[in-house]
Amino acid sequence: MKNSSGFATRAIHHAYDPMQNEGALTPPLHLTSTFAFETAEAGGEMFAGERQGHIYSRISNPTCDLLEQRIAVLEGAEAGLALSSGMGAITAVLWTLLSPGDEVIVDKTLYGCTFAYMRHGLAKWGVTITHVDMTDPAKLEAAISDKTRVVYFETPANPNMRLVDIAAMSAIAHAAGAVVVVDNTYATPYLTRPIEIGADIVVHSATKYLGGHGDVVAGLVAGSAELVEQIRLVGMKDMTGAVMAPFNAMLILRGLKTLALRMERHCASAQVVAEYLEGHPAVRSVSFPGLESFEQHGLAQRQMDKPGAMIAFEVEGGMAGGIAFMNALGMIKRAVSLGDAETLIQHPASMTHSTYTPEERAEHGISDGLIRLSVGLEEVEDILSDLEQALRLPTRHAAE
Ligand SMILES: Cc1ncc(COP(=O)(O)O)c(C=O)c1O
Repeated sequence: MKNSSGFATRAIHHAYDPMQNEGALTPPLHLTSTFAFETAEAGGEMFAGERQGHIYSRISNPTCDLLEQRIAVLEGAEAGLALSSGMGAITAVLWTLLSPGDEVIVDKTLYGCTFAYMRHGLAKWGVTITHVDMTDPAKLEAAISDKTRVVYFETPANPNMRLVDIAAMSAIAHAAGAVVVVDNTYATPYLTRPIEIGADIVVHSATKYLGGHGDVVAGLVAGSAELVEQIRLVGMKDMTGAVMAPFNAMLILRGLKTLALRMERHCASAQVVAEYLEGHPAVRSVSFPGLESFEQHGLAQRQMDKPGAMIAFEVEGGMAGGIAFMNALGMIKRAVSLGDAETLIQHPASMTHSTYTPEERAEHGISDGLIRLSVGLEEVEDILSDLEQALRLPTRHAAE
Protein backbone atom coordinates (compact mmCIF):
# COMPACT_ATOMS: atom_id res chain seq x y z
CA MET A 1 0.00 0.00 0.00
CA LYS A 2 1.39 3.39 -1.03
CA ASN A 3 1.89 5.82 1.86
CA SER A 4 0.34 8.46 -0.40
CA SER A 5 -3.09 6.81 -0.05
CA GLY A 6 -5.69 8.74 1.93
CA PHE A 7 -6.05 8.41 5.71
CA ALA A 8 -9.08 6.10 5.70
CA THR A 9 -7.54 3.89 3.01
CA ARG A 10 -4.34 3.45 5.05
CA ALA A 11 -6.40 2.78 8.19
CA ILE A 12 -8.18 -0.06 6.37
CA HIS A 13 -5.49 -1.60 4.14
CA HIS A 14 -1.96 -0.66 5.18
CA ALA A 15 0.55 -3.54 5.54
CA TYR A 16 -1.96 -6.36 5.01
CA ASP A 17 -2.46 -8.53 1.94
CA PRO A 18 -5.22 -11.17 2.14
CA MET A 19 -3.42 -13.17 -0.53
CA GLN A 20 -0.56 -13.79 1.90
CA ASN A 21 -3.10 -15.08 4.44
CA GLU A 22 -5.21 -17.71 2.65
CA GLY A 23 -7.40 -14.93 1.24
CA ALA A 24 -8.69 -13.97 4.70
CA LEU A 25 -10.09 -10.44 4.42
CA THR A 26 -9.65 -9.86 8.16
CA PRO A 27 -6.11 -10.26 9.48
CA PRO A 28 -5.61 -13.44 11.51
CA LEU A 29 -5.49 -13.30 15.28
CA HIS A 30 -2.20 -14.84 16.40
CA LEU A 31 -3.11 -16.20 19.81
CA THR A 32 0.30 -17.47 20.74
CA SER A 33 2.64 -16.66 23.56
CA THR A 34 5.76 -18.07 21.94
CA PHE A 35 7.19 -18.91 18.49
CA ALA A 36 9.02 -22.04 17.34
CA PHE A 37 12.59 -21.63 16.02
CA GLU A 38 13.55 -23.58 12.93
CA THR A 39 16.86 -24.51 14.54
CA ALA A 40 18.64 -23.73 17.81
CA GLU A 41 21.07 -21.54 15.87
CA ALA A 42 18.19 -19.54 14.34
CA GLY A 43 16.80 -18.89 17.85
CA GLY A 44 20.21 -17.72 19.05
CA GLU A 45 20.56 -15.41 16.05
CA MET A 46 17.16 -13.86 16.78
CA PHE A 47 18.17 -13.19 20.38
CA ALA A 48 21.40 -11.64 19.14
CA GLY A 49 19.41 -9.37 16.80
CA GLU A 50 21.09 -10.93 13.75
CA ARG A 51 17.93 -12.47 12.31
CA GLN A 52 14.38 -11.09 11.98
CA GLY A 53 11.45 -12.97 13.49
CA HIS A 54 9.15 -13.30 16.46
CA ILE A 55 10.53 -14.83 19.67
CA TYR A 56 7.96 -14.33 22.42
CA SER A 57 4.77 -12.22 22.58
CA ARG A 58 6.12 -9.91 25.29
CA ILE A 59 8.51 -8.63 22.63
CA SER A 60 6.42 -8.85 19.44
CA ASN A 61 3.45 -10.67 17.90
CA PRO A 62 2.21 -10.62 14.27
CA THR A 63 -1.26 -9.22 15.12
CA CYS A 64 0.27 -6.47 17.26
CA ASP A 65 2.87 -5.92 14.55
CA LEU A 66 0.18 -5.08 11.98
CA LEU A 67 -1.39 -2.59 14.38
CA GLU A 68 2.06 -1.10 15.04
CA GLN A 69 2.56 -0.56 11.31
CA ARG A 70 -0.90 1.00 10.97
CA ILE A 71 -0.46 3.52 13.80
CA ALA A 72 2.98 4.42 12.41
CA VAL A 73 1.63 5.15 8.93
CA LEU A 74 -1.34 7.12 10.32
CA GLU A 75 0.92 9.24 12.54
CA GLY A 76 3.54 9.76 9.81
CA ALA A 77 6.13 7.92 11.94
CA GLU A 78 8.74 5.28 11.13
CA ALA A 79 7.55 2.77 13.70
CA GLY A 80 4.82 1.97 16.21
CA LEU A 81 4.46 -0.05 19.37
CA ALA A 82 1.36 -1.64 20.93
CA LEU A 83 0.99 -1.68 24.72
CA SER A 84 -1.54 -2.86 27.27
CA SER A 85 -2.98 0.59 28.09
CA GLY A 86 -2.38 4.28 27.60
CA MET A 87 -0.63 4.33 30.98
CA GLY A 88 1.45 1.34 29.84
CA ALA A 89 2.51 3.36 26.79
CA ILE A 90 3.34 6.50 28.78
CA THR A 91 5.28 4.67 31.50
CA ALA A 92 7.19 2.47 29.01
CA VAL A 93 8.28 5.59 27.07
CA LEU A 94 9.38 7.53 30.13
CA TRP A 95 11.11 4.63 31.90
CA THR A 96 13.12 4.21 28.70
CA LEU A 97 14.06 7.85 28.18
CA LEU A 98 14.70 9.01 31.74
CA SER A 99 17.41 8.26 34.30
CA PRO A 100 17.94 9.54 37.86
CA GLY A 101 19.13 13.15 37.75
CA ASP A 102 17.24 13.94 34.51
CA GLU A 103 14.46 16.49 34.31
CA VAL A 104 11.15 16.15 32.49
CA ILE A 105 9.28 19.37 31.76
CA VAL A 106 5.52 18.83 31.54
CA ASP A 107 2.56 21.07 30.88
CA LYS A 108 0.47 22.31 33.80
CA THR A 109 -2.54 20.19 32.83
CA LEU A 110 -2.25 16.43 32.43
CA TYR A 111 -4.59 13.43 32.65
CA GLY A 112 -4.87 12.51 36.36
CA CYS A 113 -2.94 9.21 36.29
CA THR A 114 -0.15 10.69 34.12
CA PHE A 115 0.14 13.47 36.69
CA ALA A 116 0.22 10.93 39.53
CA TYR A 117 2.81 8.75 37.77
CA MET A 118 5.11 11.73 37.36
CA ARG A 119 4.51 13.64 40.55
CA HIS A 120 4.21 10.72 42.94
CA GLY A 121 5.91 7.94 40.92
CA LEU A 122 8.80 9.06 38.67
CA ALA A 123 9.85 11.72 41.18
CA LYS A 124 10.61 8.97 43.74
CA TRP A 125 13.31 7.63 41.41
CA GLY A 126 15.29 10.84 41.25
CA VAL A 127 13.70 12.43 38.18
CA THR A 128 12.82 16.10 38.50
CA ILE A 129 9.31 16.98 37.31
CA THR A 130 8.90 20.63 36.34
CA HIS A 131 5.44 21.92 35.43
CA VAL A 132 5.45 24.80 32.96
CA ASP A 133 2.51 26.64 31.40
CA MET A 134 3.03 25.43 27.85
CA THR A 135 0.42 27.71 26.36
CA ASP A 136 3.31 30.20 26.35
CA PRO A 137 6.50 29.13 24.47
CA ALA A 138 8.55 31.78 26.33
CA LYS A 139 7.90 29.91 29.60
CA LEU A 140 9.39 26.70 28.20
CA GLU A 141 12.33 28.66 26.80
CA ALA A 142 12.98 30.13 30.27
CA ALA A 143 12.68 26.79 32.10
CA ILE A 144 14.59 24.42 29.81
CA SER A 145 18.19 23.46 30.61
CA ASP A 146 20.81 20.82 29.78
CA LYS A 147 19.25 18.62 32.48
CA THR A 148 15.95 18.52 30.53
CA ARG A 149 15.76 15.18 28.80
CA VAL A 150 12.04 15.14 27.90
CA VAL A 151 9.35 17.72 27.17
CA TYR A 152 5.89 16.15 27.61
CA PHE A 153 2.38 17.49 26.99
CA GLU A 154 -1.17 16.71 25.89
CA THR A 155 -2.97 18.76 23.26
CA PRO A 156 -5.86 19.29 23.75
CA ALA A 157 -5.18 18.68 27.43
CA ASN A 158 -7.43 16.52 29.58
CA PRO A 159 -9.70 17.90 31.02
CA ASN A 160 -9.62 21.66 30.40
CA MET A 161 -8.88 21.66 26.63
CA ARG A 162 -5.74 23.86 26.72
CA LEU A 163 -3.78 23.54 23.48
CA VAL A 164 -0.01 23.43 23.13
CA ASP A 165 1.75 24.66 19.98
CA ILE A 166 3.60 21.49 18.93
CA ALA A 167 5.90 23.12 16.35
CA ALA A 168 6.97 25.97 18.66
CA MET A 169 7.57 23.67 21.65
CA SER A 170 9.48 21.13 19.55
CA ALA A 171 11.82 23.81 18.20
CA ILE A 172 12.64 25.02 21.73
CA ALA A 173 13.05 21.48 23.10
CA HIS A 174 15.27 20.33 20.24
CA ALA A 175 17.54 23.35 20.59
CA ALA A 176 18.17 22.14 24.16
CA GLY A 177 18.61 18.49 23.11
CA ALA A 178 15.33 17.26 24.69
CA VAL A 179 12.94 14.64 23.29
CA VAL A 180 9.34 15.80 22.70
CA VAL A 181 6.57 13.38 23.72
CA VAL A 182 2.97 14.29 22.86
CA ASP A 183 -0.14 12.55 24.19
CA ASN A 184 -2.36 12.66 21.08
CA THR A 185 -5.32 10.81 22.62
CA TYR A 186 -7.84 13.67 22.34
CA ALA A 187 -7.00 14.69 18.76
CA THR A 188 -6.13 11.31 17.20
CA PRO A 189 -3.96 11.27 14.06
CA TYR A 190 -7.09 12.09 12.06
CA LEU A 191 -7.00 15.65 13.44
CA THR A 192 -3.35 16.26 14.41
CA ARG A 193 -0.11 14.46 13.52
CA PRO A 194 2.46 15.78 16.02
CA ILE A 195 5.45 13.98 14.47
CA GLU A 196 4.86 15.65 11.10
CA ILE A 197 5.16 19.05 12.79
CA GLY A 198 8.17 18.42 15.00
CA ALA A 199 7.46 16.03 17.91
CA ASP A 200 9.57 12.89 18.41
CA ILE A 201 7.16 10.47 20.06
CA VAL A 202 3.38 10.21 20.17
CA VAL A 203 1.55 8.24 22.87
CA HIS A 204 -2.11 7.22 22.83
CA SER A 205 -4.71 5.81 25.08
CA ALA A 206 -6.09 3.61 22.27
CA THR A 207 -8.89 2.81 24.72
CA LYS A 208 -10.50 6.02 23.44
CA TYR A 209 -11.18 7.06 19.81
CA LEU A 210 -8.80 4.55 18.20
CA GLY A 211 -10.69 1.60 19.69
CA GLY A 212 -13.86 3.67 19.62
CA HIS A 213 -16.33 1.21 21.10
CA GLY A 214 -15.60 1.18 24.84
CA ASP A 215 -14.69 -2.51 24.85
CA VAL A 216 -10.91 -2.53 25.24
CA VAL A 217 -8.11 -0.89 27.25
CA ALA A 218 -5.02 -0.35 25.07
CA GLY A 219 -2.08 1.96 24.37
CA LEU A 220 0.05 2.88 21.37
CA VAL A 221 3.35 4.65 20.73
CA ALA A 222 4.72 6.04 17.45
CA GLY A 223 8.14 7.52 16.69
CA SER A 224 11.48 6.90 15.00
CA ALA A 225 12.49 3.27 14.43
CA GLU A 226 15.45 3.74 16.79
CA LEU A 227 13.48 5.20 19.71
CA VAL A 228 10.59 2.76 19.31
CA GLU A 229 13.01 -0.18 19.34
CA GLN A 230 14.53 1.10 22.59
CA ILE A 231 11.06 1.51 24.13
CA ARG A 232 10.12 -2.02 23.01
CA LEU A 233 13.23 -3.65 24.48
CA VAL A 234 13.60 -1.57 27.64
CA GLY A 235 10.34 0.12 28.66
CA MET A 236 7.96 -2.56 27.41
CA LYS A 237 9.87 -5.85 27.58
CA ASP A 238 11.78 -5.34 30.81
CA MET A 239 10.59 -2.35 32.83
CA THR A 240 6.79 -2.58 32.59
CA GLY A 241 5.89 -5.78 30.72
CA ALA A 242 2.90 -3.73 29.54
CA VAL A 243 2.41 -5.68 26.34
CA MET A 244 -0.84 -5.58 24.32
CA ALA A 245 -2.81 -8.82 24.06
CA PRO A 246 -3.21 -9.92 20.40
CA PHE A 247 -7.01 -10.02 20.77
CA ASN A 248 -6.95 -6.38 21.86
CA ALA A 249 -4.78 -5.53 18.85
CA MET A 250 -7.50 -7.03 16.67
CA LEU A 251 -10.15 -4.84 18.31
CA ILE A 252 -8.04 -1.71 17.77
CA LEU A 253 -7.38 -2.70 14.13
CA ARG A 254 -11.14 -2.98 13.70
CA GLY A 255 -11.71 0.39 15.38
CA LEU A 256 -9.14 2.09 13.13
CA LYS A 257 -11.09 1.07 10.02
CA THR A 258 -13.90 3.46 10.95
CA LEU A 259 -11.82 6.14 12.71
CA ALA A 260 -12.14 8.71 9.90
CA LEU A 261 -15.87 8.20 9.61
CA ARG A 262 -16.43 8.32 13.35
CA MET A 263 -14.28 11.40 13.86
CA GLU A 264 -16.23 13.31 11.20
CA ARG A 265 -19.49 12.58 13.01
CA HIS A 266 -18.01 13.17 16.50
CA CYS A 267 -16.61 16.56 15.42
CA ALA A 268 -19.76 17.73 13.61
CA SER A 269 -21.99 16.86 16.57
CA ALA A 270 -19.58 18.38 19.11
CA GLN A 271 -19.62 21.70 17.24
CA VAL A 272 -23.43 21.79 17.44
CA VAL A 273 -23.40 20.81 21.13
CA ALA A 274 -20.70 23.38 22.03
CA GLU A 275 -22.60 26.19 20.30
CA TYR A 276 -25.80 25.14 22.05
CA LEU A 277 -24.08 25.08 25.47
CA GLU A 278 -22.43 28.45 24.86
CA GLY A 279 -25.82 30.04 24.18
CA HIS A 280 -27.56 28.47 27.19
CA PRO A 281 -28.24 30.79 30.17
CA ALA A 282 -27.54 27.99 32.69
CA VAL A 283 -24.01 27.48 31.30
CA ARG A 284 -21.29 29.69 32.72
CA SER A 285 -18.40 28.88 30.38
CA VAL A 286 -17.52 26.50 27.53
CA SER A 287 -14.05 25.44 26.30
CA PHE A 288 -14.11 23.93 22.84
CA PRO A 289 -11.51 24.57 20.11
CA GLY A 290 -14.23 25.04 17.46
CA LEU A 291 -15.78 28.07 19.18
CA GLU A 292 -14.62 31.53 18.14
CA SER A 293 -14.67 32.48 21.82
CA PHE A 294 -12.07 29.75 22.57
CA GLU A 295 -8.90 31.51 23.74
CA GLN A 296 -6.63 29.49 21.46
CA HIS A 297 -8.99 29.33 18.47
CA GLY A 298 -6.22 30.48 16.07
CA LEU A 299 -3.85 27.72 17.21
CA ALA A 300 -6.70 25.19 16.97
CA GLN A 301 -7.25 26.18 13.34
CA ARG A 302 -3.55 25.88 12.53
CA GLN A 303 -2.86 22.64 14.37
CA MET A 304 -6.09 20.63 14.23
CA ASP A 305 -7.86 19.62 11.03
CA LYS A 306 -11.12 19.76 13.01
CA PRO A 307 -11.81 20.76 16.64
CA GLY A 308 -12.40 17.29 18.08
CA ALA A 309 -15.34 16.18 20.19
CA MET A 310 -14.33 16.86 23.80
CA ILE A 311 -15.99 19.79 25.55
CA ALA A 312 -15.22 21.25 28.99
CA PHE A 313 -17.86 23.45 30.56
CA GLU A 314 -19.24 24.83 33.81
CA VAL A 315 -22.87 25.26 34.70
CA GLU A 316 -24.35 27.95 36.95
CA GLY A 317 -24.61 26.89 40.57
CA GLY A 318 -20.97 25.71 40.83
CA MET A 319 -20.23 22.20 42.00
CA ALA A 320 -23.76 21.57 43.37
CA GLY A 321 -25.33 22.78 40.12
CA GLY A 322 -22.98 20.54 38.14
CA ILE A 323 -23.80 17.44 40.18
CA ALA A 324 -27.57 18.09 39.96
CA PHE A 325 -27.25 18.56 36.20
CA MET A 326 -25.29 15.32 35.74
CA ASN A 327 -27.76 13.37 37.85
CA ALA A 328 -30.65 14.67 35.75
CA LEU A 329 -29.23 13.28 32.49
CA GLY A 330 -30.95 10.30 30.90
CA MET A 331 -29.40 8.94 27.69
CA ILE A 332 -26.00 10.54 28.33
CA LYS A 333 -24.01 8.24 30.57
CA ARG A 334 -22.12 9.34 33.67
CA ALA A 335 -18.82 7.55 33.03
CA VAL A 336 -15.10 8.20 32.69
CA SER A 337 -13.24 7.40 29.45
CA LEU A 338 -14.05 9.14 26.18
CA GLY A 339 -14.18 8.67 22.42
CA ASP A 340 -16.89 6.01 22.53
CA ALA A 341 -20.09 5.77 20.49
CA GLU A 342 -21.99 6.69 23.67
CA THR A 343 -21.93 10.30 24.88
CA LEU A 344 -20.14 10.27 28.25
CA ILE A 345 -20.01 12.88 30.96
CA GLN A 346 -17.84 13.09 34.05
CA HIS A 347 -16.67 15.43 36.79
CA PRO A 348 -12.82 15.63 36.71
CA ALA A 349 -12.33 17.05 40.22
CA SER A 350 -14.00 14.03 41.88
CA MET A 351 -13.21 11.44 39.20
CA THR A 352 -10.38 11.38 36.61
CA HIS A 353 -8.39 14.18 38.26
CA SER A 354 -8.97 13.27 41.90
CA THR A 355 -5.30 12.17 41.82
CA TYR A 356 -4.53 15.90 42.21
CA THR A 357 -4.98 17.44 45.66
CA PRO A 358 -7.50 20.36 45.74
CA GLU A 359 -4.51 22.74 45.92
CA GLU A 360 -2.86 21.07 42.93
CA ARG A 361 -6.10 21.28 40.93
CA ALA A 362 -6.36 24.99 41.71
CA GLU A 363 -2.72 25.50 40.70
CA HIS A 364 -3.14 23.47 37.50
CA GLY A 365 -6.34 25.10 36.23
CA ILE A 366 -8.84 22.30 36.93
CA SER A 367 -11.78 24.02 38.59
CA ASP A 368 -14.14 22.15 40.93
CA GLY A 369 -17.18 22.99 38.79
CA LEU A 370 -15.66 21.75 35.51
CA ILE A 371 -17.62 19.08 33.63
CA ARG A 372 -16.11 17.02 30.80
CA LEU A 373 -18.32 15.87 27.94
CA SER A 374 -17.29 13.34 25.29
CA VAL A 375 -19.77 13.82 22.44
CA GLY A 376 -20.76 10.44 21.02
CA LEU A 377 -22.26 9.17 17.81
CA GLU A 378 -25.97 9.27 18.69
CA GLU A 379 -28.32 11.61 16.79
CA VAL A 380 -27.23 15.10 17.81
CA GLU A 381 -30.89 16.08 18.43
CA ASP A 382 -31.09 13.39 21.11
CA ILE A 383 -27.89 14.61 22.78
CA LEU A 384 -29.25 18.17 22.77
CA SER A 385 -32.63 17.21 24.16
CA ASP A 386 -31.05 15.26 27.04
CA LEU A 387 -28.82 18.26 27.86
CA GLU A 388 -31.80 20.60 27.56
CA GLN A 389 -34.00 18.75 30.02
CA ALA A 390 -31.12 18.37 32.51
CA LEU A 391 -30.05 22.02 32.26
CA ARG A 392 -33.51 23.18 33.38
CA LEU A 393 -32.62 22.06 36.90
CA PRO A 394 -29.50 24.21 37.53
CA THR A 395 -31.27 27.14 35.83
CA ARG A 396 -33.98 26.85 38.46
CA HIS A 397 -31.34 26.67 41.23
CA ALA A 398 -29.52 29.70 39.83
CA ALA A 399 -32.77 31.68 39.66
CA GLU A 400 -33.72 30.89 43.28
C1 LIG B 1 -5.25 11.94 27.67
C2 LIG B 1 -5.10 10.57 28.27
N1 LIG B 1 -3.89 9.97 28.27
C3 LIG B 1 -3.72 8.74 28.80
C4 LIG B 1 -4.75 8.06 29.40
C5 LIG B 1 -4.51 6.71 30.01
O1 LIG B 1 -4.99 5.72 29.16
P1 LIG B 1 -5.50 4.26 29.65
O2 LIG B 1 -6.71 4.48 30.48
O3 LIG B 1 -5.75 3.55 28.36
O4 LIG B 1 -4.38 3.68 30.43
C6 LIG B 1 -6.03 8.64 29.42
C7 LIG B 1 -7.16 7.92 30.05
O5 LIG B 1 -8.19 8.48 30.33
C8 LIG B 1 -6.20 9.92 28.84
O6 LIG B 1 -7.39 10.54 28.85
